[in-house]
Amino acid sequence: MPYQSPSAEAPRRASVNVNSLSLMRGRGEPIAMLTAYDASFAVLADRAGVDVILVGDSLGMVCQGRKSTLPVRLEDICYHTESVVRGLEAQGGTAMVIADMPFGSYHASLDQAIRSASALMQAGAQMVKLEGGAWVIDMVDQFVQRGIPVCAHLGLMPQTVHAIGGYRLQGKTPEDAERLREDALALEQAGACLLVLEMVPASLAVKITDALKACHTIGIGAGCGTAGQVLVLHDMLGMKIGRTPRFVKDFLAQTGSIEGAFAAYVAEVKTRSFPVDEVHGF
Ligand code: KIV
Repeated sequence: MPYQSPSAEAPRRASVNVNSLSLMRGRGEPIAMLTAYDASFAVLADRAGVDVILVGDSLGMVCQGRKSTLPVRLEDICYHTESVVRGLEAQGGTAMVIADMPFGSYHASLDQAIRSASALMQAGAQMVKLEGGAWVIDMVDQFVQRGIPVCAHLGLMPQTVHAIGGYRLQGKTPEDAERLREDALALEQAGACLLVLEMVPASLAVKITDALKACHTIGIGAGCGTAGQVLVLHDMLGMKIGRTPRFVKDFLAQTGSIEGAFAAYVAEVKTRSFPVDEVHGF
């Protein structure tokens, strides 16, 4: 049956949580994630059926006008998370909210990482996201033991842009692909519930997705074979300030309204008509 976006009259879905994400994966329903940084966009995304709202550190670039995500502070993410959560609560929203851990908020010590993650949970997030492979495994385990659900992030990790010399495809060589697969398995073992895979070959994303059972992959520039998709809000609304990555689709251009763009995004993710590997993938 073709996917239908919820209408204004449709009964509200139950709140999205870690269990419903697993149920979605179990029934083969892709998870639709989108970034949002304020109350109004979060409410419209929620009404359109977006499952998960990510308060990403991409806000450094799209809201604060910075060159990278590195200058974003923990207070910034707390502020935007509170705005998103306040909007959803006021409007009976049911989307799950994930807050990104910004650069420097988990790099110094486990103690610092736990304090930062706790601040984001107290701001209203239901899960935190952090970038990294082997070096964050223990951190993920410690978060999970303390009741903090984790979304991991592998492939292109924008917080490492200066170390890797640009925003480019990851996991291209057999060695890099194998390291990514091993990191993904270790993150799942440590208790990560979701895993963002950014800018990796579609074939590798499928391999990792299939290897993981309790951890669900969310792709961005990772092809159509992941358990879900995520895009940056401003990108999918066609706001061309800088370079537009190949994996982005302008949903506003095809629909003419923000509500329409969100509904089309959800419908295309749910029916796996977005992304198209030949057009948006690597
Ligand atoms: O910060 C962000 O928006 C992200 C997404 C690109 C996944 O990490």
